[in-house]
Amino acid sequence: MEIFAHRGASGDHPENTLIAIERAIEFGADGIEIDVQLADGQVMVFHDRWLHRTTNGYGRLQDLSFDRLRALSVGPGQQIPTLLEVLNCIQGRCCLNVELKHKEVAGPALTTLAFACQQLQFDPQQLIISSFHHRLLAQLKQHWPQFQYAGLTASVPLDLACFAERIGCSALHMDLSCLDEELVNDAHQRGLQVRVYTVDEVDDIAHLAEMKVDGIFSNFPARAIGYLQQARQ
Ligand code: G3P
Ligand code: MG
Repeated sequence: MEIFAHRGASGDHPENTLIAIERAIEFGADGIEIDVQLADGQVMVFHDRWLHRTTNGYGRLQDLSFDRLRALSVGPGQQIPTLLEVLNCIQGRCCLNVELKHKEVAGPALTTLAFACQQLQFDPQQLIISSFHHRLLAQLKQHWPQFQYAGLTASVPLDLACFAERIGCSALHMDLSCLDEELVNDAHQRGLQVRVYTVDEVDDIAHLAEMKVDGIFSNFPARAIGYLQQARQ
Protein backbone atom coordinates (compact mmCIF):
# COMPACT_ATOMS: atom_id res chain seq x y z
CA MET A 1 0.00 0.00 0.00
CA GLU A 2 1.41 3.38 -1.02
CA ILE A 3 1.69 6.24 1.45
CA PHE A 4 0.91 9.76 0.26
CA ALA A 5 1.72 12.62 2.61
CA HIS A 6 -1.47 14.66 2.97
CA ARG A 7 -0.57 18.35 2.45
CA GLY A 8 3.01 17.14 3.05
CA ALA A 9 3.96 15.79 6.48
CA SER A 10 1.31 18.14 7.83
CA GLY A 11 0.88 16.47 11.22
CA ASP A 12 4.36 17.64 12.20
CA HIS A 13 4.88 20.71 10.00
CA PRO A 14 2.71 23.51 8.60
CA GLU A 15 0.47 22.05 5.88
CA ASN A 16 1.19 22.65 2.18
CA THR A 17 4.68 24.08 2.82
CA LEU A 18 8.07 23.22 1.35
CA ILE A 19 9.35 22.01 4.75
CA ALA A 20 6.36 19.64 5.10
CA ILE A 21 7.03 18.30 1.58
CA GLU A 22 10.78 17.90 2.08
CA ARG A 23 10.21 16.02 5.37
CA ALA A 24 7.69 13.66 3.76
CA ILE A 25 10.26 12.79 1.07
CA GLU A 26 12.91 12.18 3.75
CA PHE A 27 10.46 9.83 5.55
CA GLY A 28 10.15 7.84 2.30
CA ALA A 29 6.63 8.80 1.24
CA ASP A 30 5.59 7.41 -2.15
CA GLY A 31 3.79 10.63 -2.96
CA ILE A 32 2.75 14.06 -1.76
CA GLU A 33 -0.74 15.53 -1.93
CA ILE A 34 -1.14 19.31 -2.19
CA ASP A 35 -4.07 21.68 -2.77
CA VAL A 36 -3.88 24.45 -5.37
CA GLN A 37 -5.83 27.63 -5.99
CA LEU A 38 -5.38 30.60 -8.32
CA ALA A 39 -4.64 33.96 -6.67
CA ASP A 40 -3.40 37.08 -8.48
CA GLY A 41 -2.72 34.94 -11.56
CA GLN A 42 -0.42 32.55 -9.66
CA VAL A 43 -0.95 28.87 -8.80
CA MET A 44 -0.70 28.94 -5.01
CA VAL A 45 -0.42 25.85 -2.81
CA PHE A 46 -3.12 26.45 -0.21
CA HIS A 47 -6.15 24.58 1.11
CA ASP A 48 -8.66 27.07 2.57
CA ARG A 49 -10.59 29.92 0.94
CA TRP A 50 -9.72 32.05 3.96
CA LEU A 51 -6.27 32.90 5.30
CA HIS A 52 -6.76 32.97 9.06
CA ARG A 53 -6.51 29.26 9.99
CA THR A 54 -3.02 28.64 8.62
CA THR A 55 -1.39 32.07 8.20
CA ASN A 56 -0.92 35.27 10.18
CA GLY A 57 -3.19 37.06 7.71
CA TYR A 58 -6.91 37.65 7.32
CA GLY A 59 -9.35 37.77 4.44
CA ARG A 60 -9.72 35.60 1.35
CA LEU A 61 -6.74 34.15 -0.49
CA GLN A 62 -8.17 35.36 -3.81
CA ASP A 63 -8.43 38.97 -2.66
CA LEU A 64 -4.73 39.53 -1.92
CA SER A 65 -1.95 40.42 -4.35
CA PHE A 66 0.89 37.94 -4.84
CA ASP A 67 3.27 40.25 -2.94
CA ARG A 68 0.92 40.47 0.04
CA LEU A 69 0.39 36.71 0.07
CA ARG A 70 4.13 36.14 0.02
CA ALA A 71 4.58 38.49 2.98
CA LEU A 72 2.41 36.18 5.13
CA SER A 73 3.91 33.55 7.40
CA VAL A 74 2.62 29.97 7.35
CA GLY A 75 5.09 28.85 10.01
CA PRO A 76 8.69 29.63 10.94
CA GLY A 77 10.53 30.61 7.75
CA GLN A 78 7.68 29.35 5.53
CA GLN A 79 5.67 31.25 2.90
CA ILE A 80 2.72 30.04 0.84
CA PRO A 81 4.53 28.21 -1.99
CA THR A 82 3.68 28.28 -5.67
CA LEU A 83 3.12 25.03 -7.57
CA LEU A 84 6.33 25.66 -9.50
CA GLU A 85 8.31 25.93 -6.24
CA VAL A 86 6.87 22.61 -5.07
CA LEU A 87 7.81 20.95 -8.37
CA ASN A 88 11.31 22.43 -8.11
CA CYS A 89 11.58 21.05 -4.57
CA ILE A 90 10.45 17.51 -5.48
CA GLN A 91 12.32 17.21 -8.83
CA GLY A 92 10.75 13.84 -9.64
CA ARG A 93 11.80 12.16 -6.37
CA CYS A 94 8.25 10.94 -5.70
CA CYS A 95 4.71 11.24 -7.08
CA LEU A 96 2.79 14.47 -6.74
CA ASN A 97 -1.00 14.60 -6.40
CA VAL A 98 -2.28 18.07 -7.24
CA GLU A 99 -5.81 18.63 -5.96
CA LEU A 100 -7.55 21.38 -7.96
CA LYS A 101 -9.75 23.33 -5.56
CA HIS A 102 -11.61 25.25 -8.28
CA LYS A 103 -11.97 25.46 -12.06
CA GLU A 104 -9.98 28.66 -12.63
CA VAL A 105 -6.73 27.12 -11.40
CA ALA A 106 -6.87 24.16 -13.78
CA GLY A 107 -5.36 25.68 -16.95
CA PRO A 108 -2.43 27.45 -15.24
CA ALA A 109 -1.77 24.42 -13.01
CA LEU A 110 -1.67 21.89 -15.86
CA THR A 111 0.49 24.19 -17.98
CA THR A 112 2.94 24.28 -15.05
CA LEU A 113 2.85 20.48 -14.74
CA ALA A 114 3.56 20.12 -18.47
CA PHE A 115 6.57 22.43 -18.02
CA ALA A 116 7.76 20.24 -15.10
CA CYS A 117 7.77 17.20 -17.38
CA GLN A 118 9.98 19.02 -19.90
CA GLN A 119 12.36 20.73 -17.46
CA LEU A 120 12.20 19.23 -13.95
CA GLN A 121 12.72 15.46 -14.24
CA PHE A 122 9.07 14.52 -13.83
CA ASP A 123 7.52 11.64 -15.70
CA PRO A 124 3.87 12.54 -16.50
CA GLN A 125 2.83 9.30 -14.79
CA GLN A 126 4.19 10.68 -11.49
CA LEU A 127 1.68 13.51 -11.65
CA ILE A 128 -1.86 12.81 -10.45
CA ILE A 129 -4.54 15.47 -10.88
CA SER A 130 -7.55 15.13 -8.60
CA SER A 131 -10.65 17.16 -7.91
CA PHE A 132 -14.21 17.02 -6.62
CA HIS A 133 -15.08 18.81 -9.91
CA HIS A 134 -15.61 15.73 -12.01
CA ARG A 135 -16.78 17.56 -15.13
CA LEU A 136 -13.58 19.60 -15.00
CA LEU A 137 -11.47 16.43 -14.78
CA ALA A 138 -13.22 15.04 -17.86
CA GLN A 139 -12.35 18.20 -19.84
CA LEU A 140 -8.73 18.18 -18.64
CA LYS A 141 -8.27 14.53 -19.57
CA GLN A 142 -9.17 15.47 -23.18
CA HIS A 143 -6.57 18.26 -23.33
CA TRP A 144 -3.76 16.73 -21.24
CA PRO A 145 -4.12 12.94 -21.63
CA GLN A 146 -0.53 12.31 -20.52
CA PHE A 147 -1.25 12.81 -16.81
CA GLN A 148 -3.01 10.53 -14.33
CA TYR A 149 -6.43 11.60 -13.08
CA ALA A 150 -8.26 10.70 -9.88
CA GLY A 151 -11.88 11.42 -9.03
CA LEU A 152 -12.38 12.60 -5.47
CA THR A 153 -15.49 11.56 -3.62
CA ALA A 154 -16.82 12.13 -0.13
CA SER A 155 -19.90 10.02 -0.80
CA VAL A 156 -20.85 6.61 -2.19
CA PRO A 157 -22.12 7.49 -5.69
CA LEU A 158 -25.29 5.86 -7.02
CA ASP A 159 -23.26 4.29 -9.84
CA LEU A 160 -20.33 3.48 -7.52
CA ALA A 161 -17.01 4.06 -9.37
CA CYS A 162 -18.65 4.45 -12.80
CA PHE A 163 -18.10 8.24 -12.82
CA ALA A 164 -14.34 7.85 -12.45
CA GLU A 165 -14.18 5.30 -15.24
CA ARG A 166 -16.21 7.60 -17.53
CA ILE A 167 -13.76 10.45 -16.88
CA GLY A 168 -10.84 8.18 -17.81
CA CYS A 169 -9.37 8.25 -14.30
CA SER A 170 -6.74 5.80 -13.13
CA ALA A 171 -7.88 6.09 -9.51
CA LEU A 172 -10.65 6.94 -7.13
CA HIS A 173 -9.75 9.00 -4.04
CA MET A 174 -12.35 8.40 -1.33
CA ASP A 175 -13.03 9.81 2.09
CA LEU A 176 -12.38 7.39 4.95
CA SER A 177 -15.70 8.39 6.49
CA CYS A 178 -17.61 6.95 3.50
CA LEU A 179 -15.39 3.89 3.06
CA ASP A 180 -17.53 1.22 1.47
CA GLU A 181 -16.44 -2.26 0.43
CA GLU A 182 -18.80 -2.31 -2.56
CA LEU A 183 -17.28 0.94 -3.82
CA VAL A 184 -13.71 -0.33 -3.35
CA ASN A 185 -14.50 -3.62 -5.11
CA ASP A 186 -16.33 -1.88 -7.95
CA ALA A 187 -13.38 0.48 -8.50
CA HIS A 188 -10.98 -2.45 -8.59
CA GLN A 189 -13.19 -4.37 -11.02
CA ARG A 190 -13.08 -1.34 -13.33
CA GLY A 191 -9.27 -1.34 -13.14
CA LEU A 192 -9.11 1.76 -10.94
CA GLN A 193 -6.76 2.16 -8.02
CA VAL A 194 -8.28 3.20 -4.72
CA ARG A 195 -6.66 5.69 -2.35
CA VAL A 196 -8.29 6.78 0.90
CA TYR A 197 -8.01 10.09 2.80
CA THR A 198 -7.25 11.04 5.56
CA VAL A 199 -5.80 8.08 7.46
CA ASP A 200 -3.68 8.65 10.56
CA GLU A 201 -4.61 5.82 12.95
CA VAL A 202 -2.87 2.44 12.73
CA ASP A 203 -6.14 0.52 13.20
CA ASP A 204 -7.50 2.21 10.09
CA ILE A 205 -4.26 1.55 8.18
CA ALA A 206 -4.43 -2.16 9.09
CA HIS A 207 -8.09 -2.39 8.01
CA LEU A 208 -7.41 -0.64 4.68
CA ALA A 209 -4.42 -2.88 3.98
CA GLU A 210 -6.67 -5.91 4.54
CA MET A 211 -9.20 -4.43 2.11
CA LYS A 212 -6.41 -4.21 -0.48
CA VAL A 213 -6.71 -0.45 -0.79
CA ASP A 214 -3.87 0.79 -3.04
CA GLY A 215 -2.88 3.91 -1.13
CA ILE A 216 -3.66 6.22 1.75
CA PHE A 217 -3.21 9.92 2.39
CA SER A 218 -1.81 10.53 5.85
CA ASN A 219 -0.87 13.64 7.81
CA PHE A 220 1.72 11.44 9.56
CA PRO A 221 3.50 9.58 6.72
CA ALA A 222 6.39 8.46 8.97
CA ARG A 223 3.95 6.70 11.31
CA ALA A 224 2.14 5.01 8.42
CA ILE A 225 5.39 3.90 6.75
CA GLY A 226 6.76 2.61 10.08
CA TYR A 227 3.58 0.65 10.76
CA LEU A 228 3.62 -1.02 7.31
CA GLN A 229 7.31 -1.92 7.60
CA GLN A 230 6.68 -3.51 11.01
CA ALA A 231 3.62 -5.39 9.72
CA ARG A 232 5.68 -6.90 6.87
CA GLN A 233 8.26 -8.41 9.30
O1 G3P B 1 -7.03 14.86 -1.81
C1 G3P B 1 -7.52 14.26 -0.66
C2 G3P B 1 -8.05 15.27 0.33
O2 G3P B 1 -7.06 16.25 0.51
C3 G3P B 1 -9.33 15.93 -0.11
O3 G3P B 1 -9.88 16.79 0.83
O4 G3P B 1 -10.28 18.90 2.02
O5 G3P B 1 -8.31 17.52 2.63
O6 G3P B 1 -8.36 18.77 0.48
P1 G3P B 1 -9.18 18.05 1.51
MG1 MG C 1 -6.57 18.08 -0.51
